[in-house]
Amino acid sequence: EKEGYEHFMIKEIHEQPKGVSETLLRRLDKEDHIVLDGIKLTKEDLDKINKIYIVACGTAYHAGLVGRYAIEKFAKIPVEVDVASEFRYRDPFVDENTLFIAISQSGETLDTLAALREAKRKGARILSIVNVVGSSVARESDDVFYTWAGPEIAVASTKAYTTQLVAMYLVALHMAMTKGTLSQEEYKKIMAELKSMPEKVQRVLNNCDTIQHLADHQFNNESVFYMGRGVDVNVAHEGSLKLKEISYINSFAIAAGELKHGTIALIEDGTLVVALATQDKLYDKMLSNIQEVRARGAYVVGVAKEGNKEIEKTADVVLYIPDTMDELTPILSVIPLQLLAYYIAVARGCDVDKPKNLAKSVTVE
Ligand code: M6R
Repeated sequence: EKEGYEHFMIKEIHEQPKGVSETLLRRLDKEDHIVLDGIKLTKEDLDKINKIYIVACGTAYHAGLVGRYAIEKFAKIPVEVDVASEFRYRDPFVDENTLFIAISQSGETLDTLAALREAKRKGARILSIVNVVGSSVARESDDVFYTWAGPEIAVASTKAYTTQLVAMYLVALHMAMTKGTLSQEEYKKIMAELKSMPEKVQRVLNNCDTIQHLADHQFNNESVFYMGRGVDVNVAHEGSLKLKEISYINSFAIAAGELKHGTIALIEDGTLVVALATQDKLYDKMLSNIQEVRARGAYVVGVAKEGNKEIEKTADVVLYIPDTMDELTPILSVIPLQLLAYYIAVARGCDVDKPKNLAKSVTVE
């Protein structure tokens, strides 16, 4: 079933152009209007909604962080994102004017399901983004958006994440067009970019040899830091989770602006820092952060858009992604991070598809 790949994880990483394309194209009509069969939110419903909670666990939570960014940016509705295991116990402000969005690959994660039930009890409308058809989360929701990732076998989630991102962008754009917060022109521009994503993801994948080579030299670190600004920090969290769960390296992610408020104390000679610098607006600020860690001896792997070559002066290695709008970079920038985690874990001899202590679907609290 691995179709010639060594592990399910790498097979699933390579299935992302297909997953992204299916999740997107199945929702567009001939004029590129979004048609969400499973979602019945009307303009009246949306006008009533004054707050959105996105709730999920692990990788799905990280997709939710990008979802917040997209919904606030495009549809101008305030969004809070929470991990499911925390949401329930903090007495959240949920009422009938709240939209609750659950994200789950399996649709069986107990924490997410319990949070959903709590929100429902308090009167919220429930929309879920789920990969497994007919799963518990899907069955208990008012509206469902199915991602088209296909079955995900590896414990480390990869293609589920990128398809969840596409789902979040489509939901955000659908809300924006229903509410009238985006012009036709802006919509067309974003949609054209979204449609170019499968091919751009493929271009990043074609470069996997560079990343494998890098991993072969950088697999022995005791700890790895990921940093970024704006939407990049959300992707940094996902990259860090991927690395720790399959390679057992102690890793974490921070907003680069927070470096000097503590974390920089940990940077020493040879510390591996993965620095995402894909946001045009924040590019110069990221270059300064890279300089700060380099000055303390860090080995910096930068992630940047093709054409932004300035970073080569400060980072030790740069992994490029094709140029796109700042808002959509997560679909591309996560790919080198998935590949890096994968090849580092392989170089360390880890059981990539079945990391210790982890289950694919967490059906206990
Ligand atoms: O099935 P779900 O999307 O609800 O699962 C949520 C998390 O358990 C899952 O994303 C987990 O964090 C993955 N192992 C991450 O790679």
